[in-house]
Amino acid sequence: MHRSPDSGARGHSPLKRYLIWLIIVLATIATVVFTVAVWPSNTPQSSLNPKSVEAVKIDQLWNLVFWIATVIFFAVEAALVVSIVKWRARPGDDEEPKQVHGNTKLEIVWTIIPAVILAIVAVPTMKTLFELRSPAEGPDVVTVNVIGHQWWWEFQYPDLVGDDGLPLVTANELHIPAGTTTELIMTSADVLHSFWVPSLAGKRDLVPGRLTAIKITPDPAIVGEVIPGQCAEFCGLSHADMRISVFVESTESFDAWSAEQLQPAVVPTDGPAAAGFETFTQTCTTCHQARVENPDRSVEMIGTAFGPNLTHFGGRTTLGAGILTNTDEHLAEWINDPPALKPMAPELNDLAEGRVLGMPDYGLDDQRIGELVVLLEGWK
Ligand code: CUA
Repeated sequence: MHRSPDSGARGHSPLKRYLIWLIIVLATIATVVFTVAVWPSNTPQSSLNPKSVEAVKIDQLWNLVFWIATVIFFAVEAALVVSIVKWRARPGDDEEPKQVHGNTKLEIVWTIIPAVILAIVAVPTMKTLFELRSPAEGPDVVTVNVIGHQWWWEFQYPDLVGDDGLPLVTANELHIPAGTTTELIMTSADVLHSFWVPSLAGKRDLVPGRLTAIKITPDPAIVGEVIPGQCAEFCGLSHADMRISVFVESTESFDAWSAEQLQPAVVPTDGPAAAGFETFTQTCTTCHQARVENPDRSVEMIGTAFGPNLTHFGGRTTLGAGILTNTDEHLAEWINDPPALKPMAPELNDLAEGRVLGMPDYGLDDQRIGELVVLLEGWK
């Protein structure tokens, strides 16, 4: 068959050669920029910045696979570049190369080598998987039941029970001790969610009607740090606003925190807080609970648990599942018109069916909102 010298891939024109070099240079620059950009320096939500026993195991496995893949990448690219340069068509070289098809020896070799590499990688992978999935053991293990809601997190500590027999319940801000393992037993009240605090643990789904578990053993060196995370499974309107803050505490401060959380909130008897409590029982308790101590010293849990438990709301640093700092102003804005601050669909709420898609605007006037702010921010 006749081939003209300038047909097909034979012999690149200067322009083509220039374009190829341009692509190579740009790809190199892009790779360097990307690598520098993702380098784990100022990235609080990064699994490359591990801060727990479990996250370190994941990171070590990642490092192993990363370096094996890097060596393979450069070996393959080097072979490719050498082949392209060494056996390229030269100007005036019009002869058709020797056509070959099939090489049993070569095919066996390039099947066996990847199989062996994968088998080697499988050993630490399976080991890490089994270690991360094994149930937490030991007398110090803290158990937390995690319930995902559209669009907030409920945390119950079943082993930390108050005088009234009810467990510690909080929302969105998870407090755990460093140096001991906390096991999160998780489920969902509505749709799929996913618990993801990259510096502390892998990612695990919360599935309605099923229990999943994940372990976190924070490094004692990070006591006092607040580690951010977020929902990692698309769960509707405010999926991106379903954030988690993990407060890593020393054993002493965790014990102090939990003892305080088990205390009831005091029912105020006069001033704006008392008026706020009046509104609270008329409106907020439709969806929110609070453990309160009445003036006659009796303790009771009032309200319904459709929304976050507000017993110690004033002690939380954020509101709206981590989207705003917890200040008087933000709380007032929030009560005034919650869906304006966070995408929600309270018009679709059906309390009879237990379906809650956010907090509605109750049309409270500024005075009543101000009284509620005094009450709730006072409940430290
Ligand atoms: Cu919950 Cu996304």
